[in-house]
Formats: sequence, structure tokens, C-alpha cells
Amino acid sequence: MYFGQQYNLQCMQKKYYSLYIHIPWCLKKCPYCDFYSLRISDSNSNSNKNIKKRYINNLLFDLENDLFFLKEKLIYITSIFFGGGTPSLINGKLIYYLLNEINKKVYIKKSAEITIEANPSSINKKNILEYKKSGINRISIGIQSFNDISLKLLGRIHSAKDAINAINTVVDNGFTNFNIDLMYGIPGQTLKEAKNDLYQTLFFHPKHISWYQLTIEPNTIFYKYKPTNLPKYNTLWKIYKEGKKILKKYGYIHYEISSFVKKNIFKCKHNLNYWNFGDYIGIGCSAHGKFTMNDGSIIRTTKNNNIIKYMNGNYLFSYKKVKDCDKILEFFLNRFRLFKKISKKDFTLITGIKINSISLHITKSVKLGYMKHNKNYLIVTKKGYLFLNNLLEIFI
Ligand SMILES: C[S@@+](CC[C@H](N)C(=O)[O-])C[C@H]1O[C@@H](n2cnc3c(N)ncnc32)[C@H](O)[C@@H]1O
Ligand code: SF4
Repeated sequence: MYFGQQYNLQCMQKKYYSLYIHIPWCLKKCPYCDFYSLRISDSNSNSNKNIKKRYINNLLFDLENDLFFLKEKLIYITSIFFGGGTPSLINGKLIYYLLNEINKKVYIKKSAEITIEANPSSINKKNILEYKKSGINRISIGIQSFNDISLKLLGRIHSAKDAINAINTVVDNGFTNFNIDLMYGIPGQTLKEAKNDLYQTLFFHPKHISWYQLTIEPNTIFYKYKPTNLPKYNTLWKIYKEGKKILKKYGYIHYEISSFVKKNIFKCKHNLNYWNFGDYIGIGCSAHGKFTMNDGSIIRTTKNNNIIKYMNGNYLFSYKKVKDCDKILEFFLNRFRLFKKISKKDFTLITGIKINSISLHITKSVKLGYMKHNKNYLIVTKKGYLFLNNLLEIFI
């Protein structure tokens, strides 16, 4: 698909946004996952096809509403991210239709990064080729592990063999820019097994690796029935330290707490926008958005997480102006994830808050050895990264 159509740019204020699109279905709910998703039994039945088509049309109305709210601006989209749930349950033709319609409503930059999250169980050649045709240029594959026992313990519906086949399908059909989602800290996992998962991942030379520590989230099966054999702190620490060493040895840059990249150009633009506290439009059940208004106020939108209400046109669940104290915390919560010095100018530019207003927080962080600072920058120290939660508490 061709993006980057020309508009009459006179008299209009240009604004840059990322666009997040939530797809709320999975074939089976994983016991550790708290992302909003509903179980869908058979992705190919007629009634499911209808639901998906209706959902896609609702996404377009949902977007219209947000655009109406932002009406005085010319909206430039720098990245699009299909997240879920399992977006790969939506076939390539529908994705093409959706992107084509979005392209008529906003200015999708030619250079926009367009990612789709895909589960190995729903990756096939036909879809991958259609995704490519529709303009998707990055695929994020949810592998989690190459160990069949770990996959079973995580309640995944695919095997290690399926995972390998899925990666090969993505690569063989022309996607060079792909990410592999991998987890560590899986029940019963040893250091050796975690390292083995990393080595298997490296075999495919992914441009990007998201390496997450399994977290036990409220409202999940694992929270209710906590696995008894979760790796202990010492093992987790060894996995993290050794894993980082392996990734470094194989040329990966560690640019965010869980993100590793082969070259700077492959850093995930969409996520970078979140971590830099940029603005984004979020459409779909349970999606969040963030808009900075002309007066500097920041608005958070949350979309309805009740699919019936959503399908009936009740898209917006809440619309809130972010308080100054929350702006400070949210800014640092995101920025601290990136291993980069933080410009004091950026802080004021993005939050509208003068840096002097947080001088007490900075002094305390410096005194505790969590941070250094000079005239222009805030720099988190090694100790600060080690005790990131303690550092963040100072900014609450
Ligand atoms: C929203 S999921 C979408 C991917 C796709 N549905 C799949 O699972 O194949 C994105 C990623 O979040 C990570 N994730 C989800 N829940 C997690 C948890 N509790 N702890 C650590 N990582 C988690 C997984 O690595 C997953 O691939
Ligand atoms: S991890 Fe992925 S497949 Fe599993 S429930 Fe969450 S979104 Fe669905």
C-alpha cells in the first residue's frame, strides 16, 4: 500500500502521533497474561469473520471520534502498532482494508513503522504475504521459549517446532525486520535453559529481541494459583547478568530494560515514543491514548473494555486531564526505562513543568547515589538502575 499522500499543509498545525490498535482476541488465554483479550474459538467460522469485520469498522469510527477531538490539527502518524490479544488472528485482507481506510483519514508517514504482534499458532504464508502487501513492515513474534516443557507450563498453544516454523515463515516471506518476544523466570527454569532459549533465538538473527522477566500480574491465573517452582532471586539475577553478556557478545545493544537491538535503526519506534513520553492515539477495546493539548495540558483516553458496549459505539470509557504530580511520575516512569541521559529542557517541554519544581526530588536522588546531574541533563547511575523502584518512589 502507498502511504504518505500529500495534503494542503497551509494554515494547519502539524502534530505527530503513534497509533495503537488493540485486537481483543486470543485462541486461548495464557495463565500469566493480563492484557485485555477474550477467547475466540474458531477463527475461520462465518460468525467470527463477521465479528472481526464489525470490530474493524468500529475501530474506524473510534478513530474518527479521536480525530474529531483533535480536529484543528493535521495528524501525522509516525508508527502503527497492532497489539493484543493476538492481532495475527485478523487476516491480511482485513488488515489491508483497515490500513487503507486509516490512510484516508490521517497522514501516515512514508517512513512509518507498522508492526503486528503475531502468535506462532496463527502465522501462515498467506497472511504474512498479505500483511506485507498492506504496508506492515515489522512483525513481533510471541515465542516466549523454545523449550516444550516451558511452553506447556506457560499454557502456550504452540510447540517449539511451531515456533521455529513460524519464524521461518516470516523470514522466508520477506520480513527482515522482526522481533522475538522471549521470557525468562519461567516456572522451573534453570540458568542453562534460559541461556539455551537465548542461543536458539540468536540462531535466527532477529533485528530486535524483547526479553521479559515473567511477572505475576493481578487478575491472572498465575496470581490466583502461584506456580510453586518459580526461579529464586539468585537464579533470576544470574540469568539476567549472563543473558545480557550473551546478547552483547552477539552484537545486541541493550537500549531499554527489556529491549535489545542489532542496530540503532531497528529500535522499536512505536515503543520509543511511549518511553519518550510522546503522544499517541489508542483505538480498540481497552486501548489508551495520550494527547498534549495546545495549552500544554495532557489528556489520557481509555477506551471501553466491554466488547458489547464497544461494538455498540460506546468507545470512550474515560477522558482525564493528567495532574501535574502524575505527569512527573509518568514522565520518569517511561524515561528511566531508556539507558539515556534525560534532557532537563525535554522535561519542561513535554510536561510543561519547570525543572526547579522538582529540585528537591533531584537533590534526594543525587544524595542517595541514584542520579547525577549537570546544567542540562539528569543521568541515572548504575545504582539508580539497580534500585529503579526506589528511585521512582522519590518522584511520587
Ligand atoms: C500482548 S502479548 C502479544 C503477543 C501474542 N499474543 C503472543 O502471546 O504470542 C506481548 C508479549 O507480552 C509478554 N508478556 C505478557 N504477559 C507477560 C507477563 N506476565 N510477564 C512477562 N511478559 C509478559 C509476552 O512475551 C508476549 O509475547
Ligand atoms: S500472551 Fe498473547 S496469546 Fe497469551 S493471552 Fe496474552 S495476548 Fe493472548
